[in-house]
Amino acid sequence: MIRSVVRGFGAALPKRVMTNKEMETKVDTSDEWIVQRTGIHQRYIAGEGETTASLGESAARAALARADLTPDDLDLIIVATSTPDNTFPATAVNIQNRLGMRHGAAFDMQAVCSGFVYAVATADAYIRGGLAKRALVIGAETFSRILDWSDRTTCVLFGDGAGAIILEAQKGSGTNADRGVLTAQLRSDGIHGDKLYVDGGPSTTGTVGHLRMEGREVFKHAVGMITDVIEAAFEATGTTADDVDWLVPHQANRRIIDGSAKKLGIPLDKVVVTVDVHGNTSAASIPLALDTAAVDGRIKKGDLVMLEAMGGGFTWGSVLIRW
Ligand SMILES: CC(C)(COP(=O)(O)OP(=O)(O)OC[C@H]1O[C@@H](n2cnc3c(N)ncnc32)[C@H](O)[C@@H]1OP(=O)(O)O)[C@@H](O)C(=O)NCCC(=O)NCCS
Repeated sequence: MIRSVVRGFGAALPKRVMTNKEMETKVDTSDEWIVQRTGIHQRYIAGEGETTASLGESAARAALARADLTPDDLDLIIVATSTPDNTFPATAVNIQNRLGMRHGAAFDMQAVCSGFVYAVATADAYIRGGLAKRALVIGAETFSRILDWSDRTTCVLFGDGAGAIILEAQKGSGTNADRGVLTAQLRSDGIHGDKLYVDGGPSTTGTVGHLRMEGREVFKHAVGMITDVIEAAFEATGTTADDVDWLVPHQANRRIIDGSAKKLGIPLDKVVVTVDVHGNTSAASIPLALDTAAVDGRIKKGDLVMLEAMGGGFTWGSVLIRW
């Protein structure tokens, strides 16, 4: 059977770091409050000339270099983002053009913080269905541009960045020993649409709008939804928590990450945490965390890696990959 195997990875961050101390000068908050409630110490904020497409392009170039490939070797680009450069054309097509790629297909995927998990699942389906041989999957965001910088309940939580992986069609045996995506579990339920949303859009206000969130409501649902899709991935593959080498969660909040790992029985030393330095970068958070842990040598070829995310919609999902 065909498997979608990780051939390369890369990431990009804006130049500017904003610490919690600097945040104290913008809204009525404190480093202590932010660290205690979220685990966030700093985040990166896009500056002039830095956009979702430019960060995505940098992450893509890093992934291509690491995979020893050129854009000619790709035939699909999927960009997970809720902060596109323009309403249209898609940021994926913008990045395709920046890479000088004149063939194949490119499109955006919008599942907010679960966007990268949705995009990997989609690329995997294209590859296994024979529609693509090599897919560049990017998570890229500039949430700083949709934040209400006078709302302390949201602006302290988010940051900007991008990460990318390249998935390649390779023959596998059909067992869990194969490298590549072993299963993807996706869920959504629009009944929760008013708990985390942007209060504008092309078809309603004709504006971009700002992020609004009932943080406590999101928190209440997060751990249950995350553990549900991870358990579904275990069931689909006949694996258990003991088999997982690395849990790479969406980086929203340290308390949600720790609570989910504890409920699943995954020890914290097997959990990749970057929320402390990146903040919540929505669809970019998982590929940024993957890049961090693969570059520093924690995630190695053959490791069993569980990705999970939950976000606006609500959407939630998991992907189990043998790296
Ligand atoms: C947002 C979150 C950190 C808030 O923590 P919390 O413990 O739920 O805090 P509450 O919302 O109950 O607020 C507690 C108090 O802190 C205050 N507060 C809120 N933001 C603050 C800030 N940045 N600095 C200081 N105080 C703040 C509130 O006004 C409230 O004060 P009050 O009791 O006087 O009314 C938490 O709910 C959370 O992490 N939710 C999940 C959010 C998330 O991850 N979303 C993304 C999913 S992809």
